[in-house]
Amino acid sequence: MENSSENNTLISDIREQILFMQELGVDSLAVELSDRPWSISSADSDNLIVDSAQQATPVPFEKAPPPTDLGLPKRTTEAPKRGGSRIASMPSLRSRTPAQVSDMPKSISAKTVEEPVLLDVSPTLAETTDTIQSIRAEIGNCTRCKLSQLGRKQIVHTTGNFQADLMFVGEAPGADEDEQGFPFVGRAGKLLTDIIVAMGFQREQVCIGNINRCRPPDNRKPEPDETAACRPFILREVAVIKPKVIVVLGATAAHNLLQVSTPISKLRGNFQDYFGVKVMPTFHPAYLLRDPHKKKDVWEDMKKVRDFLNTE
Ligand code: URA
Repeated sequence: MENSSENNTLISDIREQILFMQELGVDSLAVELSDRPWSISSADSDNLIVDSAQQATPVPFEKAPPPTDLGLPKRTTEAPKRGGSRIASMPSLRSRTPAQVSDMPKSISAKTVEEPVLLDVSPTLAETTDTIQSIRAEIGNCTRCKLSQLGRKQIVHTTGNFQADLMFVGEAPGADEDEQGFPFVGRAGKLLTDIIVAMGFQREQVCIGNINRCRPPDNRKPEPDETAACRPFILREVAVIKPKVIVVLGATAAHNLLQVSTPISKLRGNFQDYFGVKVMPTFHPAYLLRDPHKKKDVWEDMKKVRDFLNTE
């Protein structure tokens, strides 16, 4: 009796699973229990011993024999309601991110759009065993790119607070930085300090670095082979510092950190994502020295950063 009630539950579960398969688009399924070597009658089931030589071989759906009408209701466009059965524990679409859901065919996403997202799978910064000191030691007296042979006086490393919530990343050192060995200490650097103070921070509270650590001759832009050689080190520092916001100053910094080529005039002012870290692209302070009208744009961008950090 108990056995037959178990069988009924099993059959009911199988029916529901088949309905769910229909919902997923499986139109036919052939199962001929009498042909299987492990076929049992309900009377035998209490004493069931499965011989290992007779293990079941799964029948892939593609290789199934021609459709057998199982007497199930024909598939309709309305999905049968689910819930209250073991089917609720089947792999479902609940763990998809909204982006993944929006990539799905409409027929699937329409049924799942109201379901809560339970698992956030967005990439985050990798855990690292690096330290700022170990990264600097690895850089050493770097000759990885031609800037080392083009008149650099010294390598200009990232400085400031390595536990900072706020990090600024520029392009490459200029003459003053090359002379003094610290980033953003020339005229553009002084303007950057004013911006930081206007935001309500001290310069020592934040972290400041560049995509390239050596001065390009005549303050030209670093070339792609030069940024490719140096960029990994600032990215590894980001993974150590784990700031909440990175402000990228100018197109070179923005493009190299975010790996996009959108003009800075379009990128600026909108938070971007770098492995879970908010990135605010804005104009480079050297550009503001040439075109002071752009200061108000930068100030709008910095207010967004300040407000975000104040609500964190
Ligand atoms: N410009 C930069 O991009 N970085 C500096 O350190 C100085 C000027």
